[in-house]
Amino acid sequence: MVTDPEETLAQLVREALAAELGEQYATADPIIRPSQFADYQSNAALPLAKALGRPPREIATAVAARLATQAGTGAIDKVEVSGPGFINITLRDEWIGGQAVSQLADPRLGVALASPAQRVVVDYSGPNVAKELHAGHLRATVVGDAIARVMEYLGHTVIRAAHLGDWGTQFGMLIEHALDIGEQATAKQLETGEFTAFYQAARTKFDAEPTFADRARQRVVELQAGNEQALRLWQMLVDDSMVYLRDVYARLDITLTDADMDPESFYNPVLASVNAELEDKGIAVIDDGALCAFPPGFSGRDGRPVPLMLRKSDGGYGYASTDVAAIRYRLVDLKVDRIIYVVGSEQHQHFELVFAVARQAGWLTGQASAEHAVIGLMTGPGGQRLKTRSGEQIKLVTLIDEAVDRAGEVIRDRYADPVLRQQIAESVGVGALKYGDLSVARDSSYVLDFDRLLALTGNTGPYLQYATARIRSIFHKAGRDPAAVTGPVALGEPAERALALSLLGLGRALGDVSAAAEPHKLATYLFDVASAFTTFYEHCPVLTAEPAVRDSRLALAALTLRVLQTGLGLLGIPVPERM
Ligand code: ARG
Repeated sequence: MVTDPEETLAQLVREALAAELGEQYATADPIIRPSQFADYQSNAALPLAKALGRPPREIATAVAARLATQAGTGAIDKVEVSGPGFINITLRDEWIGGQAVSQLADPRLGVALASPAQRVVVDYSGPNVAKELHAGHLRATVVGDAIARVMEYLGHTVIRAAHLGDWGTQFGMLIEHALDIGEQATAKQLETGEFTAFYQAARTKFDAEPTFADRARQRVVELQAGNEQALRLWQMLVDDSMVYLRDVYARLDITLTDADMDPESFYNPVLASVNAELEDKGIAVIDDGALCAFPPGFSGRDGRPVPLMLRKSDGGYGYASTDVAAIRYRLVDLKVDRIIYVVGSEQHQHFELVFAVARQAGWLTGQASAEHAVIGLMTGPGGQRLKTRSGEQIKLVTLIDEAVDRAGEVIRDRYADPVLRQQIAESVGVGALKYGDLSVARDSSYVLDFDRLLALTGNTGPYLQYATARIRSIFHKAGRDPAAVTGPVALGEPAERALALSLLGLGRALGDVSAAAEPHKLATYLFDVASAFTTFYEHCPVLTAEPAVRDSRLALAALTLRVLQTGLGLLGIPVPERM
């Protein structure tokens, strides 16, 4: 069994607290933190002293003495009290080495399965039919995918949901425009995936020609009533959009499949009955002809309650109504424990209102949770929104192309073979772009700077990819297979010890990602591991060391490789074999 060092110490400190202060302290928070003076420290004595009215140092000294009785056998090497009552704990080298060997032998790399396993919906990417993905979709897609992968690795049942925008009033306008220019011309234009031009032409007419707008509104009514021609044209828009989305997702290595699209149209048949349920429960009321919910606790700047609009006064249903039906379906029918909405910060109030309504309606109860994993803005230099020169949204595909082109420049001189070079440029470019997103807190905004993302040093995708390639080449030179290395691991140098200790933190990092849906915690962890490896490799010769030392160092290198590969895989970062 591999155990996380912090968890191991937490357990030991809890036992010591119980022995010293009484059984009721077996559940006290041991407050384990990394320490400047040792590997970890427990700060437990400070709050307990206050509660017990005893000097903190006295409690710390007594607990430390109990812990010290185990020194030299299990996990603990040395215990010391410092400052107002910190208990500084140093781990035993042999214990760390032994844990590293078990981790290397474990197919799950020492990561425990979550208990209890949950059913989790991850709602992410948020694509729309007949619209191209733009720069703003990158983060909601990449971050959501990493969350889904990590949750799955931890043993949860993950239901991916892209909540495809395939319904609503804009389809009247799109269908009408398709009929105007002719079905064949429409098909031709959409096959190329150039939706933006098509959408904009429809929009322009809608805004400028009242008769077109009237016809468009009539089309929506027809579509919703199941008119055959309207449905056929709508299906064409959906199908062509799916061809395009599959392509982009494949290129970005996003795990969404057709089955995960969770289209808005899926909820159309139940919108009326869900709204009726809310009216019956007194949660939704008619306001100015529209059906609205006013969940308590939300007021606007004018102090008036904020509405969640469920049905417009013209009888049409909107985005909010669909999200209300979707959350009901997920909680009541799919019986999920947790829903994570990975969506831009501008929709925060929308989700807060939807969650409040779900709570009022009794769908979101007790153990179940819904959370908005807020996505911040990716901006251009200077912090403004990313725009093309003509002021339009930058297409996601344009960003990917640019990342790959620039990656090609970075590695140009290393590969003579153009095919191989292009393959690696694709991995490095896509990896750099995705990692750039994943390495910052998802709710903060960040400036898109390709030079920084593609740098071979620092907390970047290429640095981590390069670290794996470098370890592979060590094994290549040694003529050894990293999968066949088993240890034992003997820790002599401080750099070896620091590396081994950081490798043991994988499970904790993944738990942190899952707790608050924050993949950057895994990125930070992997960067720490790669940095620890760099220091190790600078100070500890591997291939030229004597056989026993070499085997131990090869084991550390093999474990580093697997931790990095697994972690990058969970972030969805491609790992090229060579670089
Ligand atoms: N398609 C939506 C948009 O473009 C995002 C969907 C987010 N998910 C949700 N359940 N509302 O804004």
